[in-house]
Amino acid sequence: MNDTSHVAEASGVAAAERPAAVEFHDVTKVYGQGTPREYVAISGVTFTIPDLADHGEISSFLGPSGCGKSTVLRLVAGLEPQHPPTGGTVAVLGRPVVGPGPDRGMVFQDYTSFDNRTVLDNVVFGLECRGVPRREREAAGREWIAKVGLDPRRDAAKYPHELSGGMRQRVAIARTLILRPRVILMDEPFGALDPATRLDMQDLLVALWREVQATVLFVTHSVEEAVYLGDRVFVMATTPGRIVEDLRMPAASAPARETQSQPWFHEQVNALHARIEQVEAAAKRLNGARE
Ligand SMILES: Nc1ncnc2c1ncn2[C@@H]1O[C@H](COP(=O)(O)OP(=O)(O)OP(=O)(O)O)[C@@H](O)[C@H]1O
Ligand SMILES: [Mg+2]
Repeated sequence: MNDTSHVAEASGVAAAERPAAVEFHDVTKVYGQGTPREYVAISGVTFTIPDLADHGEISSFLGPSGCGKSTVLRLVAGLEPQHPPTGGTVAVLGRPVVGPGPDRGMVFQDYTSFDNRTVLDNVVFGLECRGVPRREREAAGREWIAKVGLDPRRDAAKYPHELSGGMRQRVAIARTLILRPRVILMDEPFGALDPATRLDMQDLLVALWREVQATVLFVTHSVEEAVYLGDRVFVMATTPGRIVEDLRMPAASAPARETQSQPWFHEQVNALHARIEQVEAAAKRLNGARE
């Protein structure tokens, strides 16, 4: 370490200079470019999610169907055909995204377990790919099965078809978090769950996130979920998909049921609903004018 970096660190400049967890600069994605089906899914999307030391942030993405939420997430993940963007740059932890990588983990809405693998074998799949010896990976797998609220003795040997939707999402979360990604991408992970299970899963996510301290990008259609989980909420609008609001939210500090019954929470949710209605009405007027 040279003298300058000493000075920088002492003054806190080094922390400020940590590369962002996720950075979009003027990102556009056009599907079917040059064909009659050409469609501009997102346009001019710019945002920076910092990599907070020993903390991480949860950013919620809210917006109408088709506004490009999954496109944004899959660009971060480096998954085709969303990756590469048509224009602009997508960087994770200071490096341009060139494809999927171990620094990012993704949890989808549909239960994406391997049907022919047990819960334990699903959870340890990534460790197996990394060549971690069986004993070591299975010990870690059982630990994670417990961390997501399943029973390592009763549930480890079950197959996905023997699990409820909530249990399957717990497996998907364990399978992702066991790899300790710095950036976790969640695309409506609780969208198919009943309201009570959904609140339990929100609590689970907050608890696990405190432990792993990763940066989470969380796509949801639920304003309540976005407000409760998000330190920050990005509101998107459609045609073309773009970010129209970037709002700070109070961090989730109490259990979901408790927080979500409080007056301040309802006020936040109502204000955000009103804002989304405005955004959607403006988009409709604009599209009407174009037709
Ligand atoms: N592979 C693809 N090829 C062509 N068009 C696509 C493709 N993927 C998405 N689109 C289009 O791009 C737009 C944005 O899609 P995207 O899936 O990102 O939206 P979304 O906000 O996630 O929607 P939802 O809330 O319904 O999941 C949509 O109009 C969609 O039809
Ligand atoms: Mg989507």
